[in-house]
Amino acid sequence: MKALTPRTASRAVNRGAAPVTYGTGDRPPRGDYARARSDYTCEQAATYSAAEHETYRRLFARQRQQLPGLACEEFIAAVQQLGGPDRIPRLDDISQRLRPATGWELVAVPGLIPEEAFFALLAARRFPVTDWIRTPQEFDYVVEPDIFHDLFGHVPLLFNPVFADYMQAYGRGGLKASRLDACELLARLYWTTVEFGLIATPHGLRAYGAGLLSSAAELPHSVRSPQARRVAFDLRRMMRSRYRIDSFQASYFVIDSFDQLFAATAPDFTPVYAEVRATIARSGEIEAGAVLPGEREFTP
Ligand SMILES: [Fe+2]
Repeated sequence: MKALTPRTASRAVNRGAAPVTYGTGDRPPRGDYARARSDYTCEQAATYSAAEHETYRRLFARQRQQLPGLACEEFIAAVQQLGGPDRIPRLDDISQRLRPATGWELVAVPGLIPEEAFFALLAARRFPVTDWIRTPQEFDYVVEPDIFHDLFGHVPLLFNPVFADYMQAYGRGGLKASRLDACELLARLYWTTVEFGLIATPHGLRAYGAGLLSSAAELPHSVRSPQARRVAFDLRRMMRSRYRIDSFQASYFVIDSFDQLFAATAPDFTPVYAEVRATIARSGEIEAGAVLPGEREFTP
């Protein structure tokens, strides 16, 4: 769900707070939580205004036209599953196509939800989608994820069987991490893969992270800018790494394939958390944007 796109030149660095949790900011979460059920899901808004549909149409059109050469093929192939680009779709309609493809379904939520509720939904192959859309004034940047980010950024890859399994495994891992007090470390994995991940393909680097795919400015930056640092996927390294929350990411992590991602994250993380904590205690966290000696860097 959560993704932050660049807003200012500030260089805030998050120490790893879960990117899906409300209540960690200075203000209450946006959204009407009175209508939420105990699992934080709700009915999708019955209607949207003409202006809201228009915002969605403009966002969709701007983002879709720049996908070729920047987004991974699996994502491009599945964007059509979102339905017509001119109106905010009904989540149930997408679920009807998604269930037979990978067994996932979409559920509406009022906004950011607590991480345990988020993990529980993912573990049940239910993807929470915020049901409100940003205002026209927020066209280029919205602080909290809205329906465009959640749908356009996240849902196409839920049609990919391997990535769909990864998302469920992440949910199950999150429930376990909650018991191990390791959500901060796991959140870094989510941030650097699901939200801001890059994948190496025979045609060059491509984005698969939702925060990139739903951002007009960071998508080309992440794939093509010589200023961006890009290093190879390394689970333990990523869990040690701090990240930015209100500007472009200073560095991106590159996978070779979704199979690699799924395989690397399939084992029980209990010993991994202990190992990473010990490394942090000994050598510290890795600053956002740092590239370590000997680390493999990717250039566009
Ligand atoms: Fe997100």
